[in-house]
Amino acid sequence: MRAIATEPCKAIRMQRDPHLKPEQTTNAALMARRRAAIARGVGQVHEVFIARGENAEVWDVEGRRYIDFAGGIAVLNTGHRHPQVTAAVRDQLDRYTHTCFQVLAYEPYVELAERLNARAPGDFAKKALFLTTGSEAVENAVKIARAYTGRSALIAFTGGYHGRTLLTLGLTGKVAPYKAGFGPFPAEIFHARFPDALRGISVDDAMASVETILKNDVEASRVAAIVIEPVQGEGGFNVAPPELLRRLRALCDAHGMLLIADEVQTGAGRTGTWFAIEQSGVAPDLITMAKSMAGGFPISAVIGRAEVMDAPGPGGLGGTYAGSPLACAAALAVLDVFEQQDLLQRACDVGARLRAGLHEIAERHACIRDVRGLGAMVAIEIFRDGDLARPDAELTKQLVAEAARRGLVLLSCGTYANVVRILVPLTASDALLDEGLAILGASFDALA
Ligand SMILES: Cc1ncc(COP(=O)(O)O)c(C=O)c1O
Repeated sequence: MRAIATEPCKAIRMQRDPHLKPEQTTNAALMARRRAAIARGVGQVHEVFIARGENAEVWDVEGRRYIDFAGGIAVLNTGHRHPQVTAAVRDQLDRYTHTCFQVLAYEPYVELAERLNARAPGDFAKKALFLTTGSEAVENAVKIARAYTGRSALIAFTGGYHGRTLLTLGLTGKVAPYKAGFGPFPAEIFHARFPDALRGISVDDAMASVETILKNDVEASRVAAIVIEPVQGEGGFNVAPPELLRRLRALCDAHGMLLIADEVQTGAGRTGTWFAIEQSGVAPDLITMAKSMAGGFPISAVIGRAEVMDAPGPGGLGGTYAGSPLACAAALAVLDVFEQQDLLQRACDVGARLRAGLHEIAERHACIRDVRGLGAMVAIEIFRDGDLARPDAELTKQLVAEAARRGLVLLSCGTYANVVRILVPLTASDALLDEGLAILGASFDALA
């Protein structure tokens, strides 16, 4: 196994941004202004304000360098300011920036739909629709499913995350901090158990809980769709076993329900295939995606079976900014970059390298009980003294802070807030991945 250095990285502490102007502000000064001006509900993981980002590195307003293992929460598979993406957006800026697609249409929207339809799994005709956020994509997938089936009920999963709007919060299966204080949520949303090998929840258990919902709560003929993340993101990078996805597909087919894959976090190549669900061989009726599809420009999509997508009538779908020309141009460039740089293969290689490094750290630290994920969507789960009954949210929080102090941006997640997840740009070099892993290892050594 490769040796991962565990020394605190001196280079990181010493490097200063050569682009920084001397009179620039401090993180502390900006935090004070932020606290006074911004609603506290908008959380902030690190008390850091960014001045510049490039590929998998960022520099803060004080000139301090960080390796970015968070990627703006899964948005930067192609890295900060990929030159092809910024060039495409600049070119688009010189043509037109907004017309509203429903008023005056433009070709990049249509081309993007054609290319995504061609990539989506399933041997059937597909159509697409663009929106702005992941939540909006999920909301629209539900609207389309209801229009097509004439049914209203939805089944989602414990630990799932689908967004912060009221419908998507209803689908979300984690109370704190997302749902607490914001209810009531829309009716007829039921949660089945998501499998969790670490806690002994099997695929059979998960399917049994779906059956229980259909017995106790709602008849199958009222269920419009089952909504599932192929790998739970905020829920802790829990991978849906392919068997679960196949059995859900069969259940949907048996009862006329639709299967919606929420690929907002898993999509755009993160897991080694453009959509994570491809790896199970299952074709969902509808797929939602957002985040990395445009390298940092806000756009989301619903892609699905043409006859289903066409269920809502003209005017039923859309939005003023939905599928903005700038974001469409960026998304087309991201697709080109994936093809030209073979980033799907790179996702597999990045994932393998991260996993090897994390296993090595886990060998030294018994608190790490699981290294898991799919492709380059990789996480570790942390327990007090390795005791599965004691998820260690406090150590996880300290670890994320310690890593940041040493120049590595990390994110936590999970139902018990004890999972550290890695969403590093796929364009990061091996050297940078190793440097990040070394900082992570050193942070564990310092704390655990
Ligand atoms: C699986 C999934 N669905 C939906 C969303 C919501 O996306 P957004 O924050 O863009 O509304 C997220 C965001 O993290 C997500 O991970």
